Amino acid sequence: MSTKPEKPSFYLTTPIYYVNSVPHLGTAYTTIAADAMARYRRMTGYDVWFLTGLDEHGQKVEQAATAAGVTPREWVDRLAGEFQETWRMLSISNDQFIRTTDPTHTHAVQELARRLYESGDIYAGTYEGWYCLPDETYWAEANLEPANEAGERMCPDCTRPLTFVTEENYFFKLSKYTDKLLEWYDSTSDGLAHVAPETRMNEVRSFVERGLDDISISRSNVKWGIPLPWDESHTMYVWFDALINYISAIGYGTDKNAADAEARAAEFAHRWPAQLHYVGKDIIRFHCIIWPALLMAAGLELPQRVFAHGFLLTKGEKMSKSKGNAQTPAELVEQFGVDGYRYYFLRDVQFGTDGSISHEAMVQRYNGDLANDWGNLCSRLFNMVGKYCDGAVPDASGYADAAEGAELREIAAGLGAMVEERMVKLDYAGALEATWELIKATNRYLEESAPWALAKDDATLPRLYAVLYNALETVRIAALYCAPVMPNTSAQVFERLSLGDIWAVDDLAAATQWGQLPVGNTVTKGDSLFPRIATE
Ligand code: MSP
Repeated sequence: MSTKPEKPSFYLTTPIYYVNSVPHLGTAYTTIAADAMARYRRMTGYDVWFLTGLDEHGQKVEQAATAAGVTPREWVDRLAGEFQETWRMLSISNDQFIRTTDPTHTHAVQELARRLYESGDIYAGTYEGWYCLPDETYWAEANLEPANEAGERMCPDCTRPLTFVTEENYFFKLSKYTDKLLEWYDSTSDGLAHVAPETRMNEVRSFVERGLDDISISRSNVKWGIPLPWDESHTMYVWFDALINYISAIGYGTDKNAADAEARAAEFAHRWPAQLHYVGKDIIRFHCIIWPALLMAAGLELPQRVFAHGFLLTKGEKMSKSKGNAQTPAELVEQFGVDGYRYYFLRDVQFGTDGSISHEAMVQRYNGDLANDWGNLCSRLFNMVGKYCDGAVPDASGYADAAEGAELREIAAGLGAMVEERMVKLDYAGALEATWELIKATNRYLEESAPWALAKDDATLPRLYAVLYNALETVRIAALYCAPVMPNTSAQVFERLSLGDIWAVDDLAAATQWGQLPVGNTVTKGDSLFPRIATE
């Protein structure tokens, strides 16, 4: 009896989103990218844990609740529902949804803070300086432009006015970790840099090289937060609270008296460190400086990789609720379908750089790549199988010409390595582009071999069956490679080919070997996978 070796762990996270507004295209973008990776890694044999959730504390949330005339608790509960619904609508397969108001999280934050306070890495002091409330970020004088005509100082990131604050605070000895951080940037994990893409690594490194100041980790006038265990008149600065979610979620700092304390500790040992933190480029300092320094101070391992994506821009501007140019995911899903939506953002914007998005480009991608190339391949092929083979996968064994379909077999054989190489780099567009080579080659193959002509003559029926079998087999294989990005349509293709559950696949390399489509399987035509969108 052989036992299967244990699957390697793959723990990936999205940022936890602020609950000051509903999910929008920007937050959906990070979440979809992480979801496609989670699905891909499950299919390639990893024990995946995919975490997303909400950053529910802090002044900003407190103010949003007050403005809506409800308590912060009521506010976050309402918004948590909206986020979860949106992620369900977008077929997000997260294994866990953390909320920083969860008692287990609170306990872990207090545990870690206590540990650092006892070791002297957290100490009392006075904070005097600028604070950006919308970003919940402290700013040093040195990073700011002079006051404007109205006497205001502006946030260098979001350009909104800053507030000057003077507070008795607790500080984290960030400065102590400067050299260790620089060493970490120089090291790699499995040959990969800890911070990617390279531009972001350079940005973080040069920031640290200029020297780091200790940072305030508590607020005394913000009630909606986690109290410091040794001084309850302070709540934890929301960014510290938030970052700790990545470990509290998987068992760090569980109450020793909890019934599941042992299991949670084992879980933490198994899953930590994370393989991949997804972040937007605006929050790399928190994730690539403060977070690793906190982990060092706590004596914990560091994440293997933080990958920062760019901004989605509409007409050159960052898309955001405050700028009023955010369309809701729901509006777009209604028009393009879930898979069309997911495909567009991962195919048309190079992950890691800023990308302009527009409705025109979305229609173009959808009609070109999905309706014409992929959807049309499936529908005309399934239609022909219905017409010429009684709706069953034909037997190709009567036609023994090794050259028949050789190009397709060759592309299919090389695709796995190419997709893997690109997915390791989070190059979703590249992985999809490679998959499209197979799809396009299959469309060409059908054009060139003209099954409709082969069907007219008994003598060419064996070749007809070989051609249709080859095309069906590439469709099966292409559906597997498309599945991480377009889970619903790939599952449908599997259903129409009477294949089993596509999500049971955990060895993509084996599953994409040529020739596994069983002869005789029923093939159902079904409705168009991607109905064309009319353009004027
Ligand atoms: N709560 C913090 C994260 C804490 S993680 C420990 C936060 N939340 S956020 O809701 O403001 O943003 C979360 C992510 O969404 C960020 O990575 C941000 O870059 C991303 N996006 C928000 N708007 C965006 C675009 N227009 N384009 C792409 N992503 C952007 O920051």
